[in-house]
Amino acid sequence: SFLDVEKEPLTVLVTGAAGQIGYALVPMIARGAMLGPNQPVIIHMLDIEPNAEVLNGVKMELIDAAFPLLKGVVATTDVVEACNGVNIAVMVGGSPRKEGMERKDVASRNASIYKAQASALEQYAAPDCKVLVVANPANTNALILKEFAPSIPEKNITCLTRLDHNRALGQISERLNVHVSDVKNVIIWGNHSSTQYPDVNHATVSTNAGQKSVKELVGDDKWLKTEFITTVQQRGTAIIKARKLSSALSAASSACDHIHDWVIGTPKDTWVSMGVPSDGSYGIPPGLIYSFPVTCEKGEWSIVQGLKIDEFSREKMDATAKELMEEKSLAFSCLN
Ligand code: NAD
Ligand code: LMR
Repeated sequence: SFLDVEKEPLTVLVTGAAGQIGYALVPMIARGAMLGPNQPVIIHMLDIEPNAEVLNGVKMELIDAAFPLLKGVVATTDVVEACNGVNIAVMVGGSPRKEGMERKDVASRNASIYKAQASALEQYAAPDCKVLVVANPANTNALILKEFAPSIPEKNITCLTRLDHNRALGQISERLNVHVSDVKNVIIWGNHSSTQYPDVNHATVSTNAGQKSVKELVGDDKWLKTEFITTVQQRGTAIIKARKLSSALSAASSACDHIHDWVIGTPKDTWVSMGVPSDGSYGIPPGLIYSFPVTCEKGEWSIVQGLKIDEFSREKMDATAKELMEEKSLAFSCLN
């Protein structure tokens, strides 16, 4: 029947594919974790010349794994070839921070990369290409990409805060000793940095007796307002300290979740966090890429409206917006 006709493959670009997130991410994409188990994919991998041989090794492994959904692999150091016809672009390329650095310390190095790659995407990607920026500082790199690719619809340019969202779900699940898939509707507001605000005011746990509020179940407001928040804010740092490398499998998995939900849709009554261009919702200045709670349907995200914001939250949401404004001017001053 027509249901058996195979879908046309979608082309997914991964930049920085010779790096450690790339190595975790490309097999997930090839196995259908990003676009679903019935969606064939072609993977384009970009890295820089010094890593060309490593990149080719990753291509060899993708071939060796004989993935049924994988219809083609391109490994290249040519940004035009990499961007050509891509439907989804996952921008991981850049230098990661090391112990003792803040994410904004890698800003100047990465800003010029995102300016250059914006032009290539604009010219050569599919017109409706969806872009996810992972490389740090993720929000500001995405903003630069948006500024220098004015013909890409701005709603198609996003950054990854789903990892922070998933970290928050994980902390609540550990604390309450419930399964992580029963926890939902946490929110990450703002920057993918130590000023992000993980907010559980609207989060719930599904129990035998229906949906219960996380706040009520935890019953310890002090923990929620202090240790919970700092643990999520500092989780990237804790991983770097433990692994001597930044998070990779969790970043790759969360990048798949981000694209998956954006393309396929969020479950009923469930929102997720995405870094998206602010439209002024919740008083966040337009002109920033800021993480909001969003629902997705038919390939489009929309910011969840009408949530009650208390004074504690307001302060934290504004503080992370302020940091993003500072990062924005820093990044643009590096480009000039
Ligand atoms: P990595 O150093 O292992 O890999 C990065 C790769 O990018 C390298 O292979 C490098 O050669 C390549 N690269 C550098 N410049 C490039 C360019 N101009 N074009 C294409 N490729 C280029 O780093 P990683 O651990 O894979 O992390 C990648 C990025 O993701 C870092 O910026 C890191 O801080 C960030 N990160 C973000 C999140 C998030 O949640 N948003 C989570 C984890 C890591
Ligand atoms: C993370 O959150 O794990 C990444 O952004 C890596 C980092 O620098 O913290």
